[in-house]
Amino acid sequence: MKASAPGKIILFGEHAVVYGRPALAVPVTQVHADVDVSASPRAGIWIEAPDIDLYTELNAIPSDHPLASVIHNLFFSLGIDPFPALDIRITSTIPVASGLGSGAAVSAALTRALAAFLSKPLTDEQVSSFVYEIEKIHHSTPSGIDNSVIAYARPVFFIKGKPIETFKVGTPFTIVIGDTGVSAPTKESVGDVRRLWTMDKVRWDSVFDEIGQIAMTACRAIQDGRPALLGGLMDQNQSLLQELTVSSPELDRLVDAARKAGALGAKLSGGGRGGNMIALVEAGLAETVSKSLTEAGAKRVIITRVE
Ligand code: PMV
Repeated sequence: MKASAPGKIILFGEHAVVYGRPALAVPVTQVHADVDVSASPRAGIWIEAPDIDLYTELNAIPSDHPLASVIHNLFFSLGIDPFPALDIRITSTIPVASGLGSGAAVSAALTRALAAFLSKPLTDEQVSSFVYEIEKIHHSTPSGIDNSVIAYARPVFFIKGKPIETFKVGTPFTIVIGDTGVSAPTKESVGDVRRLWTMDKVRWDSVFDEIGQIAMTACRAIQDGRPALLGGLMDQNQSLLQELTVSSPELDRLVDAARKAGALGAKLSGGGRGGNMIALVEAGLAETVSKSLTEAGAKRVIITRVE
């Protein structure tokens, strides 16, 4: 039984989303995690994940390993006991630890493939909330935006704790994603923002409010088919993220290079300090902007169409 889940980018609202403000995220279908579950001729649950060089039986890895926790928790919640003999093959083209949601996508694809194999298929909502529980084990206080956009594989307007809203893209648009190659744990930037906020809640709440307004304006512009407006909104969101101290010299350099190459706007995406930035471009300029990003030090560039 096969299942797949896309990567994702946050378009607007990272960090402020942790404090209840809205954020927008879209799937990135050019990269994906794929899982194939089949009955095994030998006893045990055999996991093959060549991208991370893992070939093992379930019991040979710690039970809090991200893959093991998906299997244990899912079997527990579906009441599967004893465990069936399985071969599980996991592959992913989503770069790891760069804000493209690789962990959530592997968890989502694995959850779906296992549930379908056991003839207990899950809805998108069930997959999303299950993956959220797994994300909590590994990322302390995630807002829930990653599991939502990845499980639904649709653009989402997300407010923590509220039912998920997907939205329609009025006119498709092109985003270039540039990877700084710097791996930066989201946990740390989220912790640093929390320290800032604790010291001066009035100041940072008003920054979060501004970011939330940007996300709402952007959502309307996307639905109304006016994506060009997103450029200026990205630039404003980036300034606020810089104020929050979550940008970095590498991110700033790529954002700058994208703008100079003709992007309509650019910002970091995700936890910041490293990982990815995104730039809104006219489709015809995507290659030029990609080339400039590579020249400015991007380790990987992905062009994606949001539709
Ligand atoms: O680093 P990513 O892509 O997982 O995004 C983190 C987004 C934050 O808003 C910083 C944290 C969160 O849980 O929403």
